[in-house]
Amino acid sequence: MTDYPFFFTWTAQHQAKPFELVGGEGAHFTTADGGRWLDLGALSYQVNAGHGHRRIIDAIKRQADSLCLASPTAVFPAKVELAEKLLALAGPGYSKVFFTLGGAEANENAIKMARLVTGRHKLMSRYRSYHGASMGALTLTGDWRRPPLEPGIPGVVHVADCYCDRCPFGHTLASCKRECATNVDATMRLEGGGFAAAIFEPVPGANGVLVPPDDYWPLLRRACDADGALLIADEVLCGFGRLGKTFGHHHWDVTPDIITCAKGLASGYQPIGAVIVHERVAKHFDERVLACGLTYYAHPTGCAAALETLKVYEDEGMYANAARLGPVLLAELRAVAARLGVKSFVRGLGLLAALEVECTAAQWAAFGPALAARKLSLHLEGKKTTAIIAPPLCIAEADLVAGVRAFGDAAVAAFGGAS
Ligand SMILES: Cc1ncc(COP(=O)(O)O)c(C=O)c1O
Repeated sequence: MTDYPFFFTWTAQHQAKPFELVGGEGAHFTTADGGRWLDLGALSYQVNAGHGHRRIIDAIKRQADSLCLASPTAVFPAKVELAEKLLALAGPGYSKVFFTLGGAEANENAIKMARLVTGRHKLMSRYRSYHGASMGALTLTGDWRRPPLEPGIPGVVHVADCYCDRCPFGHTLASCKRECATNVDATMRLEGGGFAAAIFEPVPGANGVLVPPDDYWPLLRRACDADGALLIADEVLCGFGRLGKTFGHHHWDVTPDIITCAKGLASGYQPIGAVIVHERVAKHFDERVLACGLTYYAHPTGCAAALETLKVYEDEGMYANAARLGPVLLAELRAVAARLGVKSFVRGLGLLAALEVECTAAQWAAFGPALAARKLSLHLEGKKTTAIIAPPLCIAEADLVAGVRAFGDAAVAAFGGAS
């Protein structure tokens, strides 16, 4: 590999596999060597509106021409309109937005607010979770990215996941009594109570698309209420149509105290995230200092990109497309699973789905190159033998079907099965 003068993320530098991205359109991106790839991962789960969207690019240019930079205290139309739009999308009761530059910062500021409001410090999250790479968000993260950086911030307790295909409590769906949810309540009590907040992804994404049963989130709400803890929905990956609705938790009858988001907010066209705060939390700061801040708070081009992205989602019916194509994606993946010569699991909701394969490390290692040959961009969870599919929400059904079938051929070539 060429030695570049910058670091690649989450890898030993000599093992990085860079590619030269030059552009894209819709569900495809292009590389400098003339390649045209079907993006079945929305790059890093953020390109919900698709590549090369003219309206979003033009909105950024217009904003740069009129007002390109601002201070955190500055007020300008895109900032006001974006906050109003986010509050409207979140639903009744939400009254304030705090802007950030991405997902980790959104979660950092959410837990700071929870600590300030409750006067408590303990936090709860799950093992199979990712909440960001900064120290607080990384401590909340349960997956492999946390241990190398421990110790993190004090007071974080992790609980087992809602992983129905491999239930941590040893159940099948038939014998399940939602121990994964009631365990949240039990663990809070065993820890002596007094939690500031619990933070959960509506569907843990990068850790394998663990879709919960319908009563899981209401049970989380109940556990938090019993302890007086705030409930934070980390919508960084699930938000903005990924699961076929504006926010992932809209699938269930639950009102989080705080919603964090980024990625799909501006579809990756600008770095921006947000913390959407319910009135019952926000009012605490009417007369008390909100000890949170960022130089690039509500950056004008970020706000303009997000505002236009949210309009594009509506005008082009992208959330409805994700909801419509979700069952298609699941059916196609189940057909792949049926062809495989090894045991596998399929899970998904909207345009977020996973195929988890029981295979050897060598078989899994052969899968990546087999996919690359078919010019599909796919997230492959290295150690966990799970492929995650999360295309731009604008993907055409024919592209999705063709892509998953090509993926299936590569999987059969790597793991064995009926070709
Ligand atoms: C659920 C979730 N939360 C937070 C983050 C962190 O977001 P960022 O990389 O923008 O800091 C991610 C990123 O993948 C995520 O998937």
